[in-house]
Amino acid sequence: MKNKYPKYYSFQGRKISKKISLPKKNLINKYYNDFSFDQDVIECLNNDKINRKIDIPNRYDITNIEIGFGNGEFLIKNAISRPNELFIGVEVYLNGIAKVLESILDFGLKNIILSNLNSFYFLEAMPHKSIDKIFLINPDPWVKKRHHKRRLMSYEILSLLNKITKSKNSIYMTTDSSDYLRDTVSLLNEYKDSFGSFSSSILKKNDELYGISKYQRKALENGGKIYLLTL
Ligand SMILES: C[S@@+](CC[C@H](N)C(=O)[O-])C[C@H]1O[C@@H](n2cnc3c(N)ncnc32)[C@H](O)[C@@H]1O
Repeated sequence: MKNKYPKYYSFQGRKISKKISLPKKNLINKYYNDFSFDQDVIECLNNDKINRKIDIPNRYDITNIEIGFGNGEFLIKNAISRPNELFIGVEVYLNGIAKVLESILDFGLKNIILSNLNSFYFLEAMPHKSIDKIFLINPDPWVKKRHHKRRLMSYEILSLLNKITKSKNSIYMTTDSSDYLRDTVSLLNEYKDSFGSFSSSILKKNDELYGISKYQRKALENGGKIYLLTL
């Protein structure tokens, strides 16, 4: 997927360049643009003087965004079971994009929009108060202290998420890292005036977001817990 604007696709200053097989590459080249508005997002970002935002299809009851969907398991499952809702998935990892594209074609899904852009840029092009729910399922915890600045949960991203959601208690982050949870809670407490209230809990077996992704299950198999932060 060659593009003129590599900066919008780069993550931590580098392009995610894990090997991708030729069939997956061909699949992306053939179908990706049918299920993505990345080019429009880039136009918005390049026109920030007029501050244009993306037009989100308005024929759905609910608009969801999942950031960092990995292999897309949660995204696909929800898109299949809730055809009246729109699921926008943002993922820099191309193999994940290919995997979801395969499922979109296999199941004939119409309610998924994909983005391969770095979510920091993608979110900037979303209209204010346009999104019903946002999911961040086990974002990379970057455990080493010197890598903490790479974490997704930052003041900047929280500001963007807050701006684009329609109401409170609609941003859901899960993590198996108590350290990441604690640091995010500290950040939220520090900026309580900007972000308002939040709640955290340990997920139980019957909870909707329990065990719903590869990273979550890996943590559970290793005896870990899954924490949920709602804001
Ligand atoms: C630890 S994995 C979790 C994947 C999946 N949610 C799960 O639980 O199995 C984090 C994912 O977030 C993606 N990611 C990290 N930073 C991102 C960013 N700035 N924008 C979009 N995706 C990002 C990574 O490529 C990776 O697939």
